[in-house]
Amino acid sequence: MSSSIKVNLEKDSYDIIFDENFVESAMALIAISSKCMFITQEIIYEAFEEKFSVLKSLPNVEFHLIQQGEKAKSIDTVIEICDKMAMMHFDRSSTVFAVGGGVVGDTAGFVASIFMRGIDYFQYPTTLLAMVDSSIGGKTGVNLSSGKNLIGRIHQPKAVIVDVSFLDTLPQREINASLAEAIKYGFIYDRELFNYIVENISDILSGKNHTVLKKIILRSCEIKSEVVSMDVNEDNIRMILNFGHTIGHALEGYFEYKKLLHGEAILYGMKCALYLSHTIGNLSEKDYHASLKALSAFTLPAIDLKDKGSIIEFVKRDKKFRESQIRFVLISEIGKAELSTEITLNHIEESLGVL
Ligand SMILES: NC(=O)c1ccc[n+]([C@@H]2O[C@H](COP(=O)([O-])OP(=O)(O)OC[C@H]3O[C@@H](n4cnc5c(N)ncnc54)[C@H](O)[C@@H]3O)[C@@H](O)[C@H]2O)c1
Repeated sequence: MSSSIKVNLEKDSYDIIFDENFVESAMALIAISSKCMFITQEIIYEAFEEKFSVLKSLPNVEFHLIQQGEKAKSIDTVIEICDKMAMMHFDRSSTVFAVGGGVVGDTAGFVASIFMRGIDYFQYPTTLLAMVDSSIGGKTGVNLSSGKNLIGRIHQPKAVIVDVSFLDTLPQREINASLAEAIKYGFIYDRELFNYIVENISDILSGKNHTVLKKIILRSCEIKSEVVSMDVNEDNIRMILNFGHTIGHALEGYFEYKKLLHGEAILYGMKCALYLSHTIGNLSEKDYHASLKALSAFTLPAIDLKDKGSIIEFVKRDKKFRESQIRFVLISEIGKAELSTEITLNHIEESLGVL
């Protein structure tokens, strides 16, 4: 397998580069940029302080630390960073570096997409979720109090640089949750990846086996880049990447982004989507049971869904449910997704019964 993957988007094409030397690769990019804004979080900065301090000492480098969690993904954070860059005379040739998980990547990418009508940015994902998913595809944005990711833009990075050694400090719970997006690719696109994850699950969850992790990250990046290259604006096939997300996002909102990590919510959402794939769609009994068995290896916080009506209210706020014809992502077999127009809110409410 190569250690670089191309995301083919004509003039917006870029590479996902596997490079386990963050400082060296960042210094090379800083050398060809004018002003550079590194956006990260305190916990990441502290864990890799030695590396960051080399970069911080460079004359054209500034750092901005954002808060932890979904509350950081806000328009206030974006305005604060844009204001800081304007005060420091950043201009259209300046560059943003997003060093973090999905929260940093989505926020920093959005800053880059609107500052001076759009400047360059690089993604350095530091969580497994960001490495397999959120850093690729150019979806950037922030949350509103009325819903997640409701303001945003598609703005592709200049490159995504994956340094697997960032995962050494990632808490076990984050690894477990992040794997949701990787197994999702197995469900919707690649039975072999699904089998590989199932066979190596304890090694992966330990977070220590770089060889196994790298293999999963590479294949996930290949799948995401293939799907995004076919449909950058999510008019059609890219929608399959939302498997488990409609219900997952609703659960995140219902628990006020406090109880469940994003990946945990998606794991629950995929359980419901698998139920609907089996009962309404074409998923066989055999594949349904193999899918549930695979998901049972993940550790999930217990949840109490007393008020299913409220969860449905959150489902209705989902961007996809605002469209006239709802296309819900099901799988017809492990490795093959299908878009269904048959799923109603009643079906979704019924599927919550499996949680
Ligand atoms: N843009 C997209 O296409 C896309 C796709 C999927 C998810 N997302 C978004 O991604 C976000 C979730 O991302 P996430 O799961 O990476 O969560 P996150 O960014 O909140 O990171 C999880 C936690 O790990 C910490 N952390 C990050 N890297 C670390 C490291 N190397 N060592 C120790 N701690 C580290 C973070 O500070 C944070 O506390 C959600 O907001 C979701 O909406 C976006």
